[in-house]
Amino acid sequence: MSLFITFEGVEGCGKSTQAKALEQKFRRQGIPVILAHEPGGTPLGMEIRHILKKSRLNPPFAITELLLFAASRAQLVTGVIRPNLKQGKVVICDRFADSTLAYQGYGRGINLNTIAPINSLATKGLKPDLTILLDLPAESSLSRLGDKRRDRFEQEGLDFHQRVRDSYLKLAAQEPNRWLVIEATLPKQKIGKIIWEKVSQLLSAKGVALKHA
Ligand code: TMP
Repeated sequence: MSLFITFEGVEGCGKSTQAKALEQKFRRQGIPVILAHEPGGTPLGMEIRHILKKSRLNPPFAITELLLFAASRAQLVTGVIRPNLKQGKVVICDRFADSTLAYQGYGRGINLNTIAPINSLATKGLKPDLTILLDLPAESSLSRLGDKRRDRFEQEGLDFHQRVRDSYLKLAAQEPNRWLVIEATLPKQKIGKIIWEKVSQLLSAKGVALKHA
């Protein structure tokens, strides 16, 4: 049994917390699981992540940024995601190709027809079985960041974050069978419960019997 689950959403939506909580639930069930994140998840990917998030003095052009995200993804898919899925594990990924459509496409304004073949190349056509969107209004996203030192993406203005948020909802509406949209303002435990209900359905469709939590 293999299952590929991704988390998406604007900054501060709580996806990393929920991704970790989901990983723990799989572990408690005795189901082999790995948790990866993008950009990063491999030694080379972590170097690319640093360049992407920190290079304020020498920022990449939008197209360079797109290719750097794709390079990090190609390394992660080929080196980590595909081999683990092949071994029958559950793979959870904190962000994946939909982030590129949302941020570089709708956020930066790169044509989606330019992004699509680059995403396919990097993922070798791999699509998540389930994508969980923790939906949060852009204003709340920025205010949740508070006073912390912001990276290049977190420094973008309200307009940028609004385009990203709206685009996620658009992407989810286009493929309702793949996406699960949850309001990120709900209590953490409630969000975890909604996610586990959906995941349990997917597991039982694959014939996996769950222990009671
Ligand atoms: P995070 O790991 O803290 O969420 O930071 C990753 C940042 O990179 C976040 O602001 C979203 C952005 N990003 C893109 O712009 N495009 C992408 O394809 C991915 C994976 C992330």
